[in-house]
Amino acid sequence: MTRVFLVGSGPGDPDLLTVKALRLLQTAEVVLYDSLAGKAILALANPAAELIDVGKRCGKTSTAQAEICRLLVAAARTGKRVVRLKGGDAMIFGRATEEMEALRAAGIGFEVVPGITAASAAASVLQVSLTRREIARSLHILAGHGAESGLPAHDWVALTRSGGTLAVYMGSKTLPGLAAHFIEAGMAPEMPALAVENASMPGQGVLRGSIATLPRLVARAAPTGPVLVLIGAALADATEAEVLAASFAE
Ligand SMILES: C[S@@+](CC[C@H](N)C(=O)[O-])C[C@H]1O[C@@H](n2cnc3c(N)ncnc32)[C@H](O)[C@@H]1O
Repeated sequence: MTRVFLVGSGPGDPDLLTVKALRLLQTAEVVLYDSLAGKAILALANPAAELIDVGKRCGKTSTAQAEICRLLVAAARTGKRVVRLKGGDAMIFGRATEEMEALRAAGIGFEVVPGITAASAAASVLQVSLTRREIARSLHILAGHGAESGLPAHDWVALTRSGGTLAVYMGSKTLPGLAAHFIEAGMAPEMPALAVENASMPGQGVLRGSIATLPRLVARAAPTGPVLVLIGAALADATEAEVLAASFAE
């Protein structure tokens, strides 16, 4: 019987947990969690469970990945029911590969439970579809920074030519460089670009601009929460709904 679960906690709103994630949290004996998992979600865990903060949050001090793998394997070896809780979906920028490899190497069976990823949450906040017939036929999920915290070596021209929607994770700090690459690759400076901070959580806010203007807007707002950047023609219709009024504090 599987006793180790890699669980996506979704974007932060406890109502956006899957039923399965909730059931596993309520019956867990050990929960290893990332900072993105959030207090409101942890409050739903079995009160008797041991909660271990492994604090992964980009740009902040966090437990080294090797140590997280070690803690996970050690917890699994106790035979207890272990939930490894990760923000959003575990399989998208969640370092799930390392943890699955560590469990496999230790001969420990596990199950992965999907969660709602940040791009889906941001699209819901904006009330805009990430794909749209004739306008955006693809969705590209990109990391905004590379292993050395610089820009990743994306194929800027291919991404620009695709005409798809670009969802940039972990990109608020590197946005000026990202935007410069896209414009140099031929993207129109007025291409719609939006940043959603804390999607689905308290402190949720939106900044709306173009690929040319968004970097300055984000730098001025200096967001402290997680930020998802969406770029593409499909976003031209991003709603002016009330939530947009709650833009980042300026
Ligand atoms: C290490 S990645 C983890 C992504 C996660 N596995 C997912 O599927 O959403 C962290 C990045 O996800 C994005 N992110 C996660 N939660 C978010 C939220 N509630 N609002 C906005 N962006 C979020 C931000 O770009 C953040 O820098």
